[in-house]
Amino acid sequence: HPATKRNLATLKGDGVQFVGPGEGAMACGEFGEGRMAEPEAIFEAAMKLLAGAGPLAGKHVLITAGPTAEPLDPVRMLTNRSSGKQGYAIAEALANLGARVTLVSGPTALPAPRGVTRIDIETAEEMLAASTAALPADAAVFVAAVADWRPDEVFGVKLKKGAGGPPTINLVENPDILATIARPGPKRPKLVIGFAAETHELEAQAKAKLARKGCDLIVANDVTEPGVMGGDQNRVLLVTKAGTEAWER
Ligand code: CTP
Repeated sequence: HPATKRNLATLKGDGVQFVGPGEGAMACGEFGEGRMAEPEAIFEAAMKLLAGAGPLAGKHVLITAGPTAEPLDPVRMLTNRSSGKQGYAIAEALANLGARVTLVSGPTALPAPRGVTRIDIETAEEMLAASTAALPADAAVFVAAVADWRPDEVFGVKLKKGAGGPPTINLVENPDILATIARPGPKRPKLVIGFAAETHELEAQAKAKLARKGCDLIVANDVTEPGVMGGDQNRVLLVTKAGTEAWER
């Protein structure tokens, strides 16, 4: 209709963006251009328009998340109970604020948040290599529950029960990814954030960790609270040199 065409032209002239209309079967047995675009297509188009907007536009943030898995033989590994939820939620929030986000993730059951570049790794050494390769970054947030130790030997064939009794597993320490990237140097992100999961003396442990690891902020989680590991909610302390802020659930 001429009025519809005029109105469209006015809106386009005002800079309004359009999605659709789509083509297909319409009411009253008609066929042609005039259907509402699919909701998924509208969502995609809106996200594309909004990408790169927001207060963190132009910033690159590196995030580590999830557990690491340290192999012993082709069927066994050392790992931990981290679900990855906290790191993924932070990655999503940063992307929604306009940041370019690189998420270096251990094995989790979670889908990559929209607009986030995910790099999958298994071991702490792989996490360090992928994180270093992702630099430079304006900020780095180390949420991952990295295995502190790995078996010193990875067997190429499955270990079998036998007359010798249970095997002895010797452990060696993994590299500290946070401490490595927080070291002063030209590639150090301006803001380095670490996490602490503690069962006692939360604030004191977090302050010690802040100094030991050389980061700017520690987010301290009390993991004695029921349901925190793998849960959807937590309560944290934000600890910096300047002081401590308690964040409610
Ligand atoms: N972290 C890391 N690389 C490691 C170990 C830990 O990047 N090899 C990071 C975690 O992602 C987290 C912070 O360091 O941000 C705290 O990890 P934690 O394991 O609690 O620190 P530890 O130094 O192992 O301290 P503790 O043994 O007292 O728990």
